[in-house]
Amino acid sequence: MAEAGLLSVAQARRVENVGKQVRLQGWVRTRRDSKGGFSFLELNDGTCLANVQVIAEAALPNYQSEVLKLSAGCSVRIDGLLKESAGKGQATEVVASAIQVFGWADPEEYPLQKKRHSFEKLREWAHLRPRTNTFGAVMRVRNCVSQSIHRFFQEHGFLYVHTPIITASDCEGAGAMFRVTTIDPEKPPKSAGKVDYAQDFFGRPSYLTVSGQLEAEIFATSLGRVYTFGPTFRAENSNTSRHLAEFWMIEPEMAFFDLNDNMDLAEQFLKRIVHDVLTECEEDIAFFNQFVDDSVLATLQIVANNEFKRLTYTEAVEILEKSGHEFEFPVNWGTDLQSEHERYLTEQHFKCPVILYDYPRTIKPFYMRLNDDDRTVRAMDVLVPKVGEIIGGSQREERLDVLEARMRDQDLNLDDYWWYRDLRRFGTVPHAGFGLGFERVVQFITGMANIRDVIPFPRTPGNAEF
Ligand code: 4AD
Ligand code: MG
Repeated sequence: MAEAGLLSVAQARRVENVGKQVRLQGWVRTRRDSKGGFSFLELNDGTCLANVQVIAEAALPNYQSEVLKLSAGCSVRIDGLLKESAGKGQATEVVASAIQVFGWADPEEYPLQKKRHSFEKLREWAHLRPRTNTFGAVMRVRNCVSQSIHRFFQEHGFLYVHTPIITASDCEGAGAMFRVTTIDPEKPPKSAGKVDYAQDFFGRPSYLTVSGQLEAEIFATSLGRVYTFGPTFRAENSNTSRHLAEFWMIEPEMAFFDLNDNMDLAEQFLKRIVHDVLTECEEDIAFFNQFVDDSVLATLQIVANNEFKRLTYTEAVEILEKSGHEFEFPVNWGTDLQSEHERYLTEQHFKCPVILYDYPRTIKPFYMRLNDDDRTVRAMDVLVPKVGEIIGGSQREERLDVLEARMRDQDLNLDDYWWYRDLRRFGTVPHAGFGLGFERVVQFITGMANIRDVIPFPRTPGNAEF
């Protein structure tokens, strides 16, 4: 913030700054030369979607030698006077008194020229794609959502806890974990013919976490209301537009909450995020609505202004069975819903976000609270149009005997969970929580079709460049 007059492009686009001597720093998007012997530069610095127009007159000492060579991607510093602009789509423009070039970008080689590239192509240039309109907008929305999440929880008396990234426990019991080891795969230490993990770094098999929930439960059952917001890792081989091997998850966990409280919180939370993005990222959302998905704005308004529909898994299965709709995967009670079923419910049947609850015990993890019917557990999933499941959560099983029976059911080794069981032995309380997939919510809000395009460096099967 050293230089007087140093403005961001976002600031330079505001009329209130007209009349000021300003300094701008950023990257040239385009140069256009006028017959009158001067040039227009479109300058962007990432602070907003729009560029600011710079007028470079021939009288500039480096006009011939440098300005006329500027092309997309060049980095510059502009000093000049901010004026009101008569041009369409801009309130202001800068008349340059000096232009300093920091770095050139050979137009023969710089890939981001005028031509629009596919999102697939841009994934190969993950180091350059933040310079495009779309990824700049995605990153600003990502930032806004992340701030909104922290504000929401802080305002509601939640404590932010940092749960470990390396762990020995498999929270979701799905077995899709990345191993963390320092053992040399070429010559692992062995004992009785098997790899001896007692000699590994942590003295036991360890993994990258799939969820911070179990550790969050520790803090909820001592400090009340907590949340985690961190990276999670899943080694499932799902090459879909909604799965990443590394993604960020927000997991609130609340003591003295039942499933209804949990659903209320999830709904309030999502609405707040949408509301904040609608008010703080207006220009970016308008861009997504115009260029990416023309239903984005309307969908966000539906979310912000309508109650989510709540129904049981059993009721949802009945609706799907009666729908007459041809699904790729058949639906019947007891099987997990596929994304096509979830999307049918939220996009076609209810046309609003849906919360399904009370799922069959057989398809859900051990920690979910068993209902009196003995067949279902107090699970909930929040489903939204386009994305399907965006939140998964539950009331937790707080009764030690029931929990242990469920663990045995699922062939878990009770000793591995001694500390988790202790929470039920000492002052157990009803409690609940959920996990929101951060990239899923950004995907939902922006309308981006592929989750790989809403995270800076997507990790998917076969891809870990950069
Ligand atoms: O439904 P999940 O697996 O729930 C849990 O992990 C619980 N422990 C959360 C809790 O109760 N504290 O995952 C939660 C959410 C999903 O609804 C989805 O939005 C997202 O995380 N998610 C993924 N996002 C991107 N890529 C993947 N591979 C994802 N797997 C789950
Ligand atoms: Mg889930």
